Amino acid sequence: MSLIESIREKARARRMRIVLPEGDEPRTVEAAATVVREGLAEPILLTPERCREKASEYAAALYELRKAKGLTPEGAAKLVADPMYYGIMMVKLGDADGLVSGAVHSTGDMLRPALQVIKTRPGTKLVSSSFLMECPNKEIGENGLLVYADCVVNPCPTAEELAHIAVSAAETARTLCGVAEPRVAMLSFSTKGSASHELVAKVQEATATAKALAPELLIDGELQLDAALVPSVAAAKAPGSPVAGRANVLIFPDLQAGNIGYKITQRLGGADCFAVLQGLAKPCNDLSRGCSAEDIVNTIAMTAVQAQGASAQ
Ligand code: ACO
Repeated sequence: MSLIESIREKARARRMRIVLPEGDEPRTVEAAATVVREGLAEPILLTPERCREKASEYAAALYELRKAKGLTPEGAAKLVADPMYYGIMMVKLGDADGLVSGAVHSTGDMLRPALQVIKTRPGTKLVSSSFLMECPNKEIGENGLLVYADCVVNPCPTAEELAHIAVSAAETARTLCGVAEPRVAMLSFSTKGSASHELVAKVQEATATAKALAPELLIDGELQLDAALVPSVAAAKAPGSPVAGRANVLIFPDLQAGNIGYKITQRLGGADCFAVLQGLAKPCNDLSRGCSAEDIVNTIAMTAVQAQGASAQ
């Protein structure tokens, strides 16, 4: 069974309410119909009329949440007239379990309200992303599956932020992909001190912090990509490492490396890829503006599985 088939199967087990702020966008409408037909979730398509139903209640709640940041009651009323903020308030107040958007809006338009209102889940300081990469070569990672982070959100993470990204990505591997033993490689252009540079030192510090944050996890670094994935290279460059040569979660040192890395794997390596946000108190996920209706269905299924996990906590 492919990764996405197994995620769809999990989604079916308990139907979560997923709000779709771009409710009159044709691919989104088609995706919602498929989601209902296949029993993957309960989609809520937002239209301008629907956004008036609880507008005053949500505006009052949004004002309370953001008044310390200078939001006025009038400003809050204006924001909830935007389906994106309305949808985010539905999730915040428990009228929906998760949100999927981005077929029309940019990543920033979708992320900003989620960061401002939904906030991070307990124990996490940072919202980041994971790309689930399903590679044709089944000898690498977890039977061809690799989790990459962060490829979307944090342009220039500090060492501490990198550590949080690593722990969140391991959690995503476990809960969304069913990986029983996440093995996390903190990537660099150096393996175990082979090069000395402030960028390498940052990854070394992030590795130590991640180990302290989650001592139960297998985390190692700093590792070059080949040392992380190829057993013979690992034996030469990082002997004795519990991760090297068999990593299934790859943590990139910054957003340029992560974003380029996932696109190389997709375009040159022929991998299928699926993106999710991680670290939010309740799941909200972004789409690419070039997405198909099928991509939206998959993202709704992944959001539903994340919501099942969030509601069980
Ligand atoms: N985790 C948790 N909270 C965060 C994070 C984060 N990573 N980043 C920002 N925040 C919070 C801030 O603390 C702030 O909260 P507050 O208003 O309550 O104080 C709020 O979010 C807004 O923060 P700003 O710094 O003002 O955020 P800004 O709007 O400037 O940018 C954004 C945030 C949109 C996530 C920015 O970091 C960004 O643009 N990232 C890159 C996105 C992107 O373009 N990715 C690549 C393309 S996608 C692709 O290729 C698939």
